[in-house]
Amino acid sequence: MNGGLRLTVLGAGYLGITHAACMASLGFEVLGVDTDRGKVGQLNTGHLPIYEPGLGKLLRSGLDAGRLRFTTSYQEAAAFGDVHFICTGTPQRPDSGHADLSQVHACVAALAPLLDRPCLIAGKSTVPVGTARRLAAELASACPGAELAWNPEFLREGTAVADTLSPDRIVAGVTSRRAEEILRQVYARPIAAGSAFFATDLETAELAKTAANAFLATKISFINAMAEVCEAAGGDVRSLAQILGADPRIGQAFLRAGLGFGGGCLPKDVRAFVARAKDLGVGDAVGFLHEVDAINLRRRTRAADLTLELAGGNLAGVPVCILGAAFKPGSDDVRDSPALDVAQILTGMGASVTVYDPAALDNARRARPELCYAATLAEATQDAHVVLLLTEWPEFAALTPGSLEGIVARRNIIDARSALDPAPWREAGWQFRALGVAQDTVATADSA
Ligand code: UDX
Repeated sequence: MNGGLRLTVLGAGYLGITHAACMASLGFEVLGVDTDRGKVGQLNTGHLPIYEPGLGKLLRSGLDAGRLRFTTSYQEAAAFGDVHFICTGTPQRPDSGHADLSQVHACVAALAPLLDRPCLIAGKSTVPVGTARRLAAELASACPGAELAWNPEFLREGTAVADTLSPDRIVAGVTSRRAEEILRQVYARPIAAGSAFFATDLETAELAKTAANAFLATKISFINAMAEVCEAAGGDVRSLAQILGADPRIGQAFLRAGLGFGGGCLPKDVRAFVARAKDLGVGDAVGFLHEVDAINLRRRTRAADLTLELAGGNLAGVPVCILGAAFKPGSDDVRDSPALDVAQILTGMGASVTVYDPAALDNARRARPELCYAATLAEATQDAHVVLLLTEWPEFAALTPGSLEGIVARRNIIDARSALDPAPWREAGWQFRALGVAQDTVATADSA
């Protein structure tokens, strides 16, 4: 069924490891390539360097079946692959909103001179529109047998395996029928199982990813803008979101108000889109994305301001417990983590902050070594004056006032992810605050 195609996956980061293991599970022979010797060694012995449910098992079964291995050698990759997937990172540049494409360029520059037989190079990384066309031109002159396609990835952390094996859509940006056919062969199983397949041009394929992430970010910031209005006007954004989402044209998904979006994709993709649109002379067309970003960041300062309010207007030396470091539950990723940003802001306001997370502590320690961490929930909440729930892990959502009784010093809690039911907390004498809910509105709702 897979036509005997041999695949390489260039870049063993989040996307690359997932893609490589999933393609091996579909029956392909797969060679993963990364310049990090340590990581390659780890992967070859079945150790997953990231947290992703179900991926470790898939990695080990690919290795055991002899269909999957990892190398640092581009020479080996060039000799091995019929299709080379570019899965390197495209982080935000430190000096602007633009995407840093150096890893994508480095990987094409390393591979291209070694290619001596026909192959397809399929980019999966998220890149600014126009990148693929430029790379295709470079490749055409350097190695005529190699063709370029763009095949963006839409996987979410936490559900990356299912998103890769059963995607709702597969996008193939191609310049020939042959490239389309090869990608149809690669994804034959998901297509047969019902995934929609869209063959389009390179630019539309690149935009398919950028526009999707911009839309999702806009939806989250829209509901968070309504949260700001609710806080001022006396509404409850949680009911508002339910009512809005009941309209099938709007839908419930991505209308969870709270601390906003973070992670390795949405924030930097929104900024890279704004930067690229400006370069193209159409900055005004996506000017609203500035506001999407600003609304998102304002939620973080709002959570800090609420903490100050609950602490009575002075945070100097006040013990504050932060529950959550990952940018979302089900992940150990702390890139652009809203929770860690709030921890940083509160530390700057003088609070004595302790952070706990069930999966992301190691990464958090590496990313923000200046913050103070606890190894357990009990240790983190010990003697706290204010507890903030900033990442909605199930173990935090299962908290009850009884579970913190006798541990915290003051009964103040901020639910920034709409994870808790306020009623039992208030009944137990806690000051309970939630983002997007005016305090007196909640009081009225409670007394009703
Ligand atoms: C996202 C896209 O969903 C995925 O298609 C793309 O390939 C990569 O970027 P991911 O970053 O894994 O995936 O996380 P996602 O589940 O989309 O959540 C992003 C952020 O938005 C998280 O911080 C999450 O907490 C937040 N979020 C999500 C909300 O605040 N409210 C919501 O309603 C949904």
